[in-house]
Amino acid sequence: MNKKIAVIHGDGTGPEVVNEGLKVLRVVAKIYNLNLDFLETNINGKRFLKTGELLTDSDMALLKDCDAIYLGAIGDPAIQPGILERGILLKLRFDLDQYINYRPVKLYPNVYSPIKSATPESIDYVVIRENTGGLYTGNGSFKNKGTGNEIATQEMIYSYEQVERCIRFAFETAASRHQSHWKGCTKSDKDAGIIGQVTLCGKTNVLTYVFDLWERVFNDVAQDFPQIKTKYTHVDAVCVHMVERPEIFDVIVTSNMFGDIITDLAAVTQGGMGVAASGNINPKGVSMFEPIGGTAPDFTGKNQINPMAAIGAAHLMLDHLGFKTAARHLENAKVKVIQEMASMLAAKMGYSTSELGDMVCDALAQIDQPA
Ligand code: IPM
Ligand code: MN
Repeated sequence: MNKKIAVIHGDGTGPEVVNEGLKVLRVVAKIYNLNLDFLETNINGKRFLKTGELLTDSDMALLKDCDAIYLGAIGDPAIQPGILERGILLKLRFDLDQYINYRPVKLYPNVYSPIKSATPESIDYVVIRENTGGLYTGNGSFKNKGTGNEIATQEMIYSYEQVERCIRFAFETAASRHQSHWKGCTKSDKDAGIIGQVTLCGKTNVLTYVFDLWERVFNDVAQDFPQIKTKYTHVDAVCVHMVERPEIFDVIVTSNMFGDIITDLAAVTQGGMGVAASGNINPKGVSMFEPIGGTAPDFTGKNQINPMAAIGAAHLMLDHLGFKTAARHLENAKVKVIQEMASMLAAKMGYSTSELGDMVCDALAQIDQPA
């Protein structure tokens, strides 16, 4: 079965890490006989500077017609903040209705975490971030701009339907992860058939409208998943727990803005931006997979950036496309190579970007195919 994958190399170190991801994907495709067609695009900040184009109609037509999008990073220090973000990255998320931002948080063996007590067992959870609403899409305004009486607004709006589909996805994720290693899963939970937990991360004590809605929807959806335990935690406390006792989490579900913030913290606990990958998911449409590290302008063109997050995004994409065994094989190869790295930090890895891509390709050939 042919799968069309649109590639957005993007800006900064995006092209370097995407190239390693593609290199690895081509090897996986060969092993498993997958027909992956990569459709290259030239969507990025440089094109915008040259032509003024962000996303053209023909870009959108191409992207809507593919099975998935593989994206490096978008951003250019020469362009005012917000233009590329709103005009490309967020526009894709919104127009393609990628309503889930799926962010696995996993500490691999031999990866340095700034949390002293962290182990691969204690940091292993998923954040489901709502990806098409809230503060990201609400209207904003200025009044009396530039004066001492200025007022600025930015609305946070959520509908029942938006919250419901996101929370339902979180419960489905917990059910499919089928985890019981998280702390708080007691023996009697296990005996009662509990196979996962969803934590709602909100702020019901202050944002008494929006998170009241989230909490009611959470309780409604939970009725359909008796085998999943539920927990509510305020976002500020979630940050504390992510550092002090990450082992209590299995799946966290939250709003767009909170999800943006807590997943950067989560990424740091798992070894940094060099390893953190994400999927912008539309379960019935076109999904987009990206490393969450950004363009890293200081490292652009130096062959020093960590490609593991982009390779992780490739793994999420294969899994999403239904190539489950191939995805697991890629993940295992990635984990093997991570063991050999001196650090996850750019320029300190002990290898160059392209060497690491080659090493993952070699590992794919060396390790056994998963059952
Ligand atoms: C992310 C990024 C984006 C976001 C920016 C670049 C618009 O920080 O993917 O987390 O805020 O969602
Ligand atoms: Mn972010």
